[in-house]
Amino acid sequence: MSNAKLWGGRFQATNEEWVDSFGASISFDQALVLEDIKGSLAHVKMLGATGILPEADVSLITEGLQTLMEQAKNDQLVYTVANEDIHLNIEKLLHDLIGPVAGKLHTGRSRNDQVATDMHLYLLKQVPLATELITKLQTVLIDLAEQHIHTVMPGYTHLQRAQPISFAHHLMAYFWMLERDKGRFEDSIKRIDLLPLGAGALAGTTFPIDRHLSAELLGFSKPYANSLDAVSDRDFSVEYLSNAALVMMHLSRFCEELILWSSDEFKFIELSDTFATGSSIMPQKKNPDMAELIRGKTGRVYGDLVGLLTVLKGLPLAYNKDMQEDKEGVFDTAHTLEGALTIMAGMIETMTVNVAHLEATTKQDFSNATELADYLAAKQLPFRQAHEIVGQLVLFCIQNNIYLADLSLETLQAAHPLFEADIFTVLQPETAVARRNSYGGTGFEQVKAQIHEAKALLA
Ligand code: ARG
Repeated sequence: MSNAKLWGGRFQATNEEWVDSFGASISFDQALVLEDIKGSLAHVKMLGATGILPEADVSLITEGLQTLMEQAKNDQLVYTVANEDIHLNIEKLLHDLIGPVAGKLHTGRSRNDQVATDMHLYLLKQVPLATELITKLQTVLIDLAEQHIHTVMPGYTHLQRAQPISFAHHLMAYFWMLERDKGRFEDSIKRIDLLPLGAGALAGTTFPIDRHLSAELLGFSKPYANSLDAVSDRDFSVEYLSNAALVMMHLSRFCEELILWSSDEFKFIELSDTFATGSSIMPQKKNPDMAELIRGKTGRVYGDLVGLLTVLKGLPLAYNKDMQEDKEGVFDTAHTLEGALTIMAGMIETMTVNVAHLEATTKQDFSNATELADYLAAKQLPFRQAHEIVGQLVLFCIQNNIYLADLSLETLQAAHPLFEADIFTVLQPETAVARRNSYGGTGFEQVKAQIHEAKALLA
């Protein structure tokens, strides 16, 4: 075999250098080398089992592929842009190793079903990795939550202090988001678990191949039922990107909170030095860079998702070269997601929670105002009236520079005779939290039950 293109038969002029490099995907699809060789090993085995290739050829090709697999694992393969993509590079390397019989490997197959197969195999590896990392992060959240069931902090709406909550409750909110994220990834497996191989270029093949055998050899449940669909859809990659985008959205919101919480304005937590960096000019600075980067990298994952959707939106069936653009975003997202989940777990595991400061904060605000209104409503004053009365008390406090707990019983009773001395216990943030004992609420007992349920899910 000369240096000519593997598909060069019908061509007279050679490509310009720019055309070669613009068209090549080897710079990035080499990430699929193990999947590509794995797919070829199964394909050639099937070609032997169906009698399409003689066993002698099958053995030669198999041994050659196994050698390449070893070399690939040791990073010893050298690829060329002239050979365009991972599939042609491997075929060329196989030819260099075993001679022209290498050319029989591509019998009954096309790069179209081959590349789709590689991406399915790739994601069948990436999805379990994502769920494993999510579980690790969930474990870290549960561990920290268990230490802070009774740590009271301000709960917010509109980033204004709303009602006191348990710090563990706040942490566990992210546990449940991640639980759904994990569920989405797990559910997606049944749509990745379909084998495109054997679809050929688009229409199937004249060879008596056995696609069910190929599926079995590669660990897929079944082959795609329609060859056009098999080679031309990338919905499984879009779904992966979408699931990753949701994880990143959740992490990004949490990171935004960590950034706020570690500021001098909040002082709720301190990030470990390992996950923070200094400033080159301001000696006092300790910046939450890792949290900011996770928040920032959420943008690139969204970009990967929208990028692929956009690539696909106008494509006629079946394969189009546009689809070569499906890979870099998926690789980029896989890499970003792995980093973000790992960093996030480390950051939370090592941060310090300023318990005393958190609790002091809840005593210097009006986040117990609902307690007063609920108190009156529980004594059958219509809630709307109770709300109005407490609103006036809040205004009175603001004008006199005091908090609700500083009001005297006389003042309270003047506002409404239903107030009695037990109101002062009710006003304590700890009491406010403890009494929100409705299912899923922040009451300490509910939080304990929630953590118990969460642990059972991970067990
Ligand atoms: N490198 C190509 C891709 O990633 C492989 C499939 C090429 N098929 C073709 N008909 N040119 O999409």
